[in-house]
Amino acid sequence: MRLTFNNVLPTVVLFSGIASAFSGHDSASALQHKRTPLKPRRVQSLLINPDAQPDLPTVQAATAAATAVGLNLDDIQGDLLRAKLAADILPLITTTNQLLAVATQPITALNIAFSQTGLTALNVTDSLGDSFFSKGQLADAKNLGTTNWVPEFTRTGIHGVILFASDSDDNINNAVASLEAAMGDSITKVYSLSAASRPAPNAGHEHFGFLDGISNPAIIGFTGTPMPGQSNISAGSILVGETGDSGSRPAWAKDGSFLVFRQLKQLVPEFNKFLTDNPIVMNGLTPQQGSDLLGARMVGRWKSGAPVDLAPIFDDPVLGADPTRNNDFTFQHPDAVLSTNQTRCPFSAHIRKTRPRADLGTPEETTHHIMRAGIPYGPEVSGAEASSNTTSTERGLAFVSYQSNIGNGFRFLQQTWADNANFVHSGVGVDPIIGALAGAQRVVTGLDPTNSTKKTTLTTDFVVSRGGEYFFSPSLSAIASKLSV
Ligand code: HEM
Ligand SMILES: *[C@@H]1O[C@H](CO)[C@@H](O)[C@H](O)[C@H]1NC(C)=O
Ligand SMILES: *[C@@H]1O[C@H](CO)[C@@H](O)[C@H](O)[C@H]1NC(C)=O
Ligand SMILES: *[C@@H]1O[C@H](CO)[C@@H](O)[C@H](O)[C@H]1NC(C)=O
Ligand SMILES: *[C@@H]1O[C@H](CO)[C@@H](O)[C@H](O)[C@H]1NC(C)=O
Ligand SMILES: *[C@@H]1O[C@H](CO)[C@@H](O)[C@H](O)[C@H]1NC(C)=O
Repeated sequence: MRLTFNNVLPTVVLFSGIASAFSGHDSASALQHKRTPLKPRRVQSLLINPDAQPDLPTVQAATAAATAVGLNLDDIQGDLLRAKLAADILPLITTTNQLLAVATQPITALNIAFSQTGLTALNVTDSLGDSFFSKGQLADAKNLGTTNWVPEFTRTGIHGVILFASDSDDNINNAVASLEAAMGDSITKVYSLSAASRPAPNAGHEHFGFLDGISNPAIIGFTGTPMPGQSNISAGSILVGETGDSGSRPAWAKDGSFLVFRQLKQLVPEFNKFLTDNPIVMNGLTPQQGSDLLGARMVGRWKSGAPVDLAPIFDDPVLGADPTRNNDFTFQHPDAVLSTNQTRCPFSAHIRKTRPRADLGTPEETTHHIMRAGIPYGPEVSGAEASSNTTSTERGLAFVSYQSNIGNGFRFLQQTWADNANFVHSGVGVDPIIGALAGAQRVVTGLDPTNSTKKTTLTTDFVVSRGGEYFFSPSLSAIASKLSV
């Protein structure tokens, strides 16, 4: 499931200098005190729940499901399940349950996560059992595509990240200001990135124009019955220390999650020009329809969200908007050989690279799943940019994913699958959306449904990494006990 914010303006603040930020009893008791009297403050939900996305569970349903497997939703930071945070003052962190009901949603939601450098600054010496987390994302940069990084990410001083989310700039600015006032000199803002749902009619769509947030895993114990086609994975794939997490973790890390943050720049006019210049030529398609089909095959879904596996030639917005059908496919069809026939969906399509479904066997593997919670940043494409075919103002995706193991989650999807021209079959090419070969041109097959051996050469990376960091988002009780003492 995925919770999507209603006109939310999340701001990502990366900070350093937390040495004393969470030490002493004051912040722990402030946290406790603030959390007890949860009074209704909001009349309109912070979350949007577009038709195309699975319905959110009610608090009661989520609690019932969680109790069955012993998950404590009051202890899991809300953004883990694409929820939010509440910080109208101090580390007032929004839990998953608070986010599910309007009455308990804060004015501004807040979630916090720490890098290894930050935990070290807090004198937390336990290994969290994740080597990529321990080394940090900068050490991993050469393995993750281009290295055109924002300078702040290339320094080692980022101790943590605070995600703020609300529905107005004022709310965010107030929350940031009160947090800064409360924290005094104990933390310093290193960098921040403001992101927001795109304006109507593109709310919920990323900057290339495609509806996002359709397919996130159902978590046994949180989501009730999975939607048709939704992956069904144990809580331990996302939450540390739960059933299904095989890592060796300290007890206090239970119910936390590793948060991968990436600032991914998108070259939208350049992407659009590529589609315009290379329409798929088929009987009955106009050049515009051929260009739209090419884009849909690169992603694996049409802009409406309809999967090309079920709507192979033309978009089907009714299908796209129907959560009972828009994720209900495996890439397997009675009239096609699964391992060779990519007429309906290219093997390299973004959603097939990052979730191969039946390509890796049935039932579906459950190890390499992530909970995505990214949101667009940057302005809409201006008329001048569109007509010049050139990006002049940066925009992209503030990518956030949660997983219990970075090497099995984000990193596996990016490096072992998306960047690998021989996954899922020899020679299929890299993921045309996020695949990267250190800036070298990328060759993809299967984009043309009329000739599956035809190679398409992409001379531009349409998504460019601007850096990021690996964080650990602890449970609230870990913040109160382990990280505050
Ligand atoms: C700017 C960069 C990116 C863009 C524009 C983008 C766009 C999209 C879109 C439009 C979808 C389909 C909607 C949905 O199923 O929810 C999607 C799905 C997905 N993306 Fe991305 N994405 C980006 C980066 C990434 C990265 C870095 C990863 C992981 C390494 C990733 C992993 C996934 C996964 C796992 C799915 C769901 C696949 C499924 O369950 O069928 N994406 N993305
Ligand atoms: C961490 O340990 C050092 C050395 O013992 C001490 O000076 C510092 O105050 C400690 N920091 C915290 C946050 O406890
Ligand atoms: C999801 O997994 C759980 C636990 O293995 C199982 O009980 C349930 O039937 C599965 N649901 C679906 C729809 O596969
Ligand atoms: C490939 O699959 C398509 C659609 O599923 C089917 O119409 C076509 O006959 C298949 N091609 C081959 C060579 O089997
Ligand atoms: C932008 O790209 C389109 C499609 O290739 C082309 O027709 C147009 O001339 C280009 N504009 C400029 C300013 O290069
Ligand atoms: C398909 O593409 C390949 C590689 O570009 C080419 O050699 C072949 O002639 C094409 N086949 C058809 C039927 O166009």
